[in-house]
Amino acid sequence: MNNAYALITGGSSGIGFEIAKDLAGRGYNILLVSRNEQNLQDCCNQLSDEFDISSDYISSDLANKESVRHIYQTTKERGYDIEILVNNAGYGIATPFHVTSLEDEEKFIRVLATSVISLTKLFVSDMVEKKILEYLNQFAKVKEVEVIPVVLVSLNVSCARILIA
Ligand SMILES: NC(=O)c1ccc[n+]([C@@H]2O[C@H](COP(=O)([O-])OP(=O)(O)OC[C@H]3O[C@@H](n4cnc5c(N)ncnc54)[C@H](OP(=O)(O)O)[C@@H]3O)[C@@H](O)[C@H]2O)c1
Repeated sequence: MNNAYALITGGSSGIGFEIAKDLAGRGYNILLVSRNEQNLQDCCNQLSDEFDISSDYISSDLANKESVRHIYQTTKERGYDIEILVNNAGYGIATPFHVTSLEDEEKFIRVLATSVISLTKLFVSDMVEKKILEYLNQFAKVKEVEVIPVVLVSLNVSCARILIA
């Protein structure tokens, strides 16, 4: 059984779901992470119908401090090897900075910044241990191409939020 998965946060909608379809088309099994369970189920069904891969999901709110550990532990319990991590989940806050609560801003930072660093930190250690990164670096040298980014970190709006406040 092939246990290689691409994990996509915010993979149940928009850009994240498009990335999920692209990776599924390249043969990766897909693990989606977001909050709305019905959307996650629908997306997984669509992926499994359209592509010859396995798809699964973890419903989790990245604004919660415990979320990242829970996601990491769940992948271990299910025996998934995360070979690609796409940190894509996020949103914008339309309300002016002086009107939002401190809690709103802290959640925003957890989703768009802290969880990105934490998930990357946890999964990249496994990737190095399994020599996935080394393999790709060697491949790049042989083929004389740029190093393939195994860990994709999304550009998000958390920094811009302060600048435009
Ligand atoms: N579209 C743009 O023009 C644009 C521009 C600049 C940056 N971006 C960034 O690119 C990324 C994708 O944008 P998009 O337009 O494709 O967004 P989208 O369609 O609104 O999708 C956002 C995804 O993130 C998930 N999500 C939101 N909050 C979450 C949370 N607290 N915990 C877990 N999952 C959460 C959503 O699912 P649930 O709601 O079910 O959790 C959904 O799957 C975002 O980070 C966005 O900030 C987008």
